Amino acid sequence: MPNFIAQNINTMIDTNEHVLLFEDNGHKIYWMGIEEESAFRCNVYLIEDNDEFIIVDPGSRIYHQELKKRVSHIVEPSKISALILCHQDPDVCASMVDWLDINPNIKIITSSRTNVLLPYYGRSDYEFYNIGDTNSFIFKSGRELKFIEAPFLHFPGAFTTLDVTSNMLFSGDIWAALDIDWNLVVNDFEEHIPYMNLFHIDYMPSNVATSGFAKKIEHEKIDAILPQHGSIIDAMNVKDAINYLKNLRCGLDIIYADDN
Ligand SMILES: [Fe+2]
Ligand SMILES: [Fe+2]
Repeated sequence: MPNFIAQNINTMIDTNEHVLLFEDNGHKIYWMGIEEESAFRCNVYLIEDNDEFIIVDPGSRIYHQELKKRVSHIVEPSKISALILCHQDPDVCASMVDWLDINPNIKIITSSRTNVLLPYYGRSDYEFYNIGDTNSFIFKSGRELKFIEAPFLHFPGAFTTLDVTSNMLFSGDIWAALDIDWNLVVNDFEEHIPYMNLFHIDYMPSNVATSGFAKKIEHEKIDAILPQHGSIIDAMNVKDAINYLKNLRCGLDIIYADDN
């Protein structure tokens, strides 16, 4: 079984090292460890496909040197070929300028709305790969990343990335959780809900957006959800996670509750 997520439930993780989440015939997915100990801690992932390496949501400039060091345990950092940036927040992508310093040929894979804002980090001289053109990225091997737009969760141009090989969904801020008592993988989904609520109730706009996205993805084969904050949700909890979005009341549902 090439998916190693379930075996990391309830295990002590060395947050200074990467963890291999999936491996099959030259295709690998890594969680890249974590530097910060706050509840907001940001997850960075790396997708390897033979000689192509894509970082998903590389994060803040503060942790760039540390991430670069960890990447170097897997591949020479100048070999990173692309960054996937699921929206424009600084915790997702401020370090894109540092990655462009290492390799000016890195592709920036993102939505057109996100791409409007990225130059404000200081560089616009990069190759933009628009997820909206084909809704997919094909590796040289023929393997596919499928982009699924997630409007207003929590940015108009937000999107998620489904690795079709592993069936792992990189979900950005969707299913993010805030928790000091962090585990790499969710053990008890019911216990995890209050920590997701801490994020979603304030950051996500309304049930129209969350349930609309849930209905859009419920027929996809998803074997794990990899959010940008909090714990990974493994296959046995994916259905409950989708139902969580269907039933969520958040943002405007609460702020303007009297108007509904
Ligand atoms: Fe965000
Ligand atoms: Fe975030």
